[in-house]
Amino acid sequence: MTELAQTRDDWIARISSAADPAALEELRVAALGKKGEISLMMRELGRMSPEERQTKGRALNELRDEIDAALRAKKAGLDDAALDARMESEWLDVTLPGRPRPQGTVHPVSQVMDEVAVIFADMGFAVAEGPQVESDWFNFDALNIAPEHPARQEHDTFFMARETGDNRPPHVLRTHTSPVQIRAMQEQGAPIRVIAPGRVYRMDMDQTHTPMFHQVEGLAIDRDISMAQLKWTLEEFCRAFFEVDEVELRFRASHFPFTEPSAEVDIRCSWAGGALKIGEGDSWLEILGSGMVHPKVLAAAGVDPDQWQGFAFGMGIDRIAMLKYGIPDLRAFFESDLRWLRHYGFAAGDVPSVSAGLSRG
Ligand code: PHE
Repeated sequence: MTELAQTRDDWIARISSAADPAALEELRVAALGKKGEISLMMRELGRMSPEERQTKGRALNELRDEIDAALRAKKAGLDDAALDARMESEWLDVTLPGRPRPQGTVHPVSQVMDEVAVIFADMGFAVAEGPQVESDWFNFDALNIAPEHPARQEHDTFFMARETGDNRPPHVLRTHTSPVQIRAMQEQGAPIRVIAPGRVYRMDMDQTHTPMFHQVEGLAIDRDISMAQLKWTLEEFCRAFFEVDEVELRFRASHFPFTEPSAEVDIRCSWAGGALKIGEGDSWLEILGSGMVHPKVLAAAGVDPDQWQGFAFGMGIDRIAMLKYGIPDLRAFFESDLRWLRHYGFAAGDVPSVSAGLSRG
């Protein structure tokens, strides 16, 4: 065996037994690096005769190429093995079941607000909003509630702290959503059709009252709107909301400072067998207050009462949620008891729509 053949066999053997990429890199430098064995041998060529150089040179070039190819092949093999090892240690079983997470639910009040908005949107009502901390003027004066009206008395209304040295009346936590009537008319003028769902506050607490509760206000102003349209709108709403074909509403004459005439509205229902059924039976349940918007209210909101008229109503959202979903105690609505929320809550993502059935899910 020639000396060169021996060198070749030595290198090929060392390369093939290299254990990892770092060892292989050391071999590459030792053979083909600037001061590597093969590189030094090639440098010797300069001192040889032309004939000698020709044969030795070709042989050395071949040897260098062979070692280079062996290094590359081994490198590829080691890389594959490293990848296999990684895949072995980093695998993920995508068929495993997901980790259970605490499951949230949609609160019945949110669900009912969405349902109400969907039904009225279908009838052309937009959604309007107003602040929960309201000025005395929007909450009372503009709604024709005189300063001596009982609703203004301290036992009903939450007052905000008055700034020292300020002689203006203090702001209040709005006691109803009716101030949004004024704000919406000021902003949009007439004609207008809006609902205004939101939180309201009154000092009251028993099985059917909480100091914070929810109302939805309705307002429709045009040139020739009458009580007949109010009645149709509310009947249509109740049919859609309670998901029954027949509803019967009873309008009872009432009094609100901001409507004239005014009516409280009851819905026919039955409690037979302890379960509430809407649309049948001999009982009546009050669900809302309503009436024709008082001319003074229109004027306060900048709408000309000689040209425009219309109806307004205010409905208790928690109340109709209790009725529709058979929830007995109002106070439980706001106690954040997880067992209650899981029982009465709705699946997130089940967005109500009139065509799909409002409370499906
Ligand atoms: N704001 C009244 C209430 O809180 C309800 C109502 C609204 C009545 C609109 C008539 C018109 O009881």
